[in-house]
Amino acid sequence: MATVSLKSIIKKFDETQVLYDINLDIVDKEFIVFVGPSGCGKTTLLRIIAGLEEATNGEIEIDGVNVSSAHPIERGISMVFQSYALYPHLNVFENIAFPLRVAKLPKLEIEKLVMRAAETLQLTDRLKFKPGQLSGGQRQRVAIGRSIVRNPKVFLFDEPLSNLDAALRGEMRVELAKLRKSLDATMIYVTHDQVEAMTMADRIVVLSEGKVEQFGTPMELYHRPKTKFVAGFIGHPKMNFLKVPSLSANSKGISVELPEIGEQLLPVETSAKEISGDLEIGIRPEDLKLSKTAKGLPMKVEVMERLGSSTLVYGSVSLNHKFCALLKGDALVGEGETIKLVASPSSFHVFDSNGDAMRRREVPEVIN
Ligand SMILES: Nc1ncnc2c1ncn2[C@@H]1O[C@H](COP(=O)(O)OP(=O)(O)O)[C@@H](O)[C@H]1O
Ligand SMILES: [Mg+2]
Repeated sequence: MATVSLKSIIKKFDETQVLYDINLDIVDKEFIVFVGPSGCGKTTLLRIIAGLEEATNGEIEIDGVNVSSAHPIERGISMVFQSYALYPHLNVFENIAFPLRVAKLPKLEIEKLVMRAAETLQLTDRLKFKPGQLSGGQRQRVAIGRSIVRNPKVFLFDEPLSNLDAALRGEMRVELAKLRKSLDATMIYVTHDQVEAMTMADRIVVLSEGKVEQFGTPMELYHRPKTKFVAGFIGHPKMNFLKVPSLSANSKGISVELPEIGEQLLPVETSAKEISGDLEIGIRPEDLKLSKTAKGLPMKVEVMERLGSSTLVYGSVSLNHKFCALLKGDALVGEGETIKLVASPSSFHVFDSNGDAMRRREVPEVIN
């Protein structure tokens, strides 16, 4: 059992505040990902959970016990860093065994625990190698091995894959997913990469400038982003945004004026407050299609990427709004052309002037 609760966590470095009132309840055995741009406070929050950094205000509970002032070792957690921090002069076996030697465990017990971790991480045939003789992925596995042997209740990972090349990152994502099943522990994983967040998390915490923007399952965040920030951060290629005039609102949704399409009713819940002036709409590249008629959002194609199964088209809509569309692999499009794009009204996202999303009425059933 290991639940983790953060209550009103605030962190200031001198006068600079970097975390604002963070409240999170993490369930036993959940895989939680903290995601957000560089500098948003992910590492600081993880270090506060680990006990390596003290919160300016607020409390941390692990398994219902307040550990806010407990020493890192007493918290039953283990942290894997981006820099693997292996001892270069020790072989793989000794690197993994290191925390157990420090804890003065009996020799046979150490051997048993290291062998079991090495097996889980497929390092059995590398135990005599020094870190310098290993690939990046193997080194990262050794670092993970060193945290597994301590049998922590909670694993903390800080961008453990960001030093690896793209192909290896993909492989390690799958490895971590498997490892997670065999370890059966609560995991908190920090990354700036939304693909890692989407593929590995049970639930994602999106952070921006020290605040929680949204906490939810990957598909909730994808289909129902609460803010423009989350909408733009989750999903690849990124959501397109366009400022449009709003015309009217009723119980079915809100009518906006789309370039060259004209009035379009978008099925969102409008709040009681009067909606007037400009709104921002969001459309994901994968929701756009080539129009079969002359009517559609006109997009001037600047760059095309033919990926085989699909074609990515980059350009601009309404003068300077950068746009991207994910079209079929053999879509009849050429650079320099102006194409007409359409999307189902239910696929649009609508944001008010504060960047808050209006709740969409028609959303595919969210699978978790
Ligand atoms: N020890 C520190 N002293 C002062 N400022 C810090 C310290 N550590 C982090 N910060 C600042 O806190 C903010 C969040 O940093 P960090 O948690 O490392 O972000 P992330 O991991 O999301 O990139 C940054 O603006 C960073 O400069
Ligand atoms: Mg960081």
